[in-house]
Amino acid sequence: MKFVRFIMKNAALASVPKHIEHFSKFSPSPLSMKQFLDFGSINACEKTSFVFLRQELPVRLSNIMKEINLLPNRLLTTPSVQMVQSWYIQSLMEILEFLDKNPDNFKVLGEFVDALVTIRNRHNDVVPTMAQGIIEYKETFPQDPVTNQNIQYFLDRFYMSRISIRMLINQHTLIFDGTLNPVHPNTIGSIDPHCEIADVVQDAFHSAKMLCDQYYLRSPDLILQEMCSKKKKNLPMSIVYVPSHLYHMLFELFKNAMRATIETHDNSNTLPPIQVMVSLGDEDMSIKVSDKGGGVPFRRIENLFSYMFSTAPAPQIGERTRPPLAGFGYGLPISRLYAQYFQGDLQLYSMEGHGTDAVIYLKALSTDSIERLPVYNKTALKNYKVSQEADDWCIPSKEPLDLSIYKVPK
Ligand SMILES: Nc1ncnc2c1ncn2[C@@H]1O[C@H](COP(=O)(O)OP(=O)(O)O)[C@@H](O)[C@H]1O
Ligand SMILES: [Mg+2]
Repeated sequence: MKFVRFIMKNAALASVPKHIEHFSKFSPSPLSMKQFLDFGSINACEKTSFVFLRQELPVRLSNIMKEINLLPNRLLTTPSVQMVQSWYIQSLMEILEFLDKNPDNFKVLGEFVDALVTIRNRHNDVVPTMAQGIIEYKETFPQDPVTNQNIQYFLDRFYMSRISIRMLINQHTLIFDGTLNPVHPNTIGSIDPHCEIADVVQDAFHSAKMLCDQYYLRSPDLILQEMCSKKKKNLPMSIVYVPSHLYHMLFELFKNAMRATIETHDNSNTLPPIQVMVSLGDEDMSIKVSDKGGGVPFRRIENLFSYMFSTAPAPQIGERTRPPLAGFGYGLPISRLYAQYFQGDLQLYSMEGHGTDAVIYLKALSTDSIERLPVYNKTALKNYKVSQEADDWCIPSKEPLDLSIYKVPK
């Protein structure tokens, strides 16, 4: 019996490349907020969602699996990346099993929800595992700018794909597991049709403040202001959004702002507050988090979003090398992906010596909030094939200039 299962498993494994090839030929279908809400409205149909997902999930998985295979071989073959890849293969195979099942059968629908929950759990640790792969790679091989650029390009797309796949899985499992969300009865899956920005700001600030108090025994205060264009006087301001995504971004920004504030005002009895401005226009919902934490040199700003620059080895257990307000440097890049996922953005404006403004831009209108998804195609392929070319701007020499060349020969 065991032997038969082994052969079947191997046969299924052998067909995986063929399936990836097939499904990666389809382009992922970005959903709008409205479509997400429709899947969860009163006449929501579990069958429709099932039929959509059993095609769309393999498409999204296969598109990104093609890109995993394009990683530099020395990174692809690290144990961590191999592990992540095996999770993707396993999950793809599990969803494919539903392709020939009958959508009218309730039992099948129930099994599908269970399968999605298993898959979501399997992929819980993808981000730290992938980060570990980068550390393994960096320890063994010298970095060059082209590889850094490729890895940055890949990880932004890979993590964005992951955010989107988890969004699809969460919506289906939350809406169709037959229970109401007791804490937020008005949410549709993970989407709040009236997500009040100020509430999420307060929540995220409170959590960061608790961490900060624990570690530094003090924390800066919050000053929150809301502004909106004349036409919209309907405070409190809300948009259709995923509160957990917004919370994630704000929590990261607050941790950074608090740490910077405390560390630059080490010798002072008072701390400058962190100021948040929420502004709703016709097109954008913007949230600015301002601190007086000394800022970051302009030259470093881009590196703060880089996965390769920031991956510090995780502190050994029992050894406190970094304050708990900081992680392994993925706070900013992942938060920016959450903002970009529904066509927004996250930008940092800093003045070294003074402080930093971090601005989250979201779409004010749900009709503009559409998933931003990577697609595997010729253009993507080209990005992995970039080769190292000479810079077309002169590189300033770090050595002191040898002025002897200007001396007039005797
Ligand atoms: N508001 C800020 N003021 C000063 N430095 C900041 C600020 N936000 C981020 N940084 C710098 O950017 C780095 C990366 O931030 P982040 O991506 O959140 O990773 P982590 O906090 O885990 O280091 C921080 O370590 C810090 O040096
Ligand atoms: Mg951080």
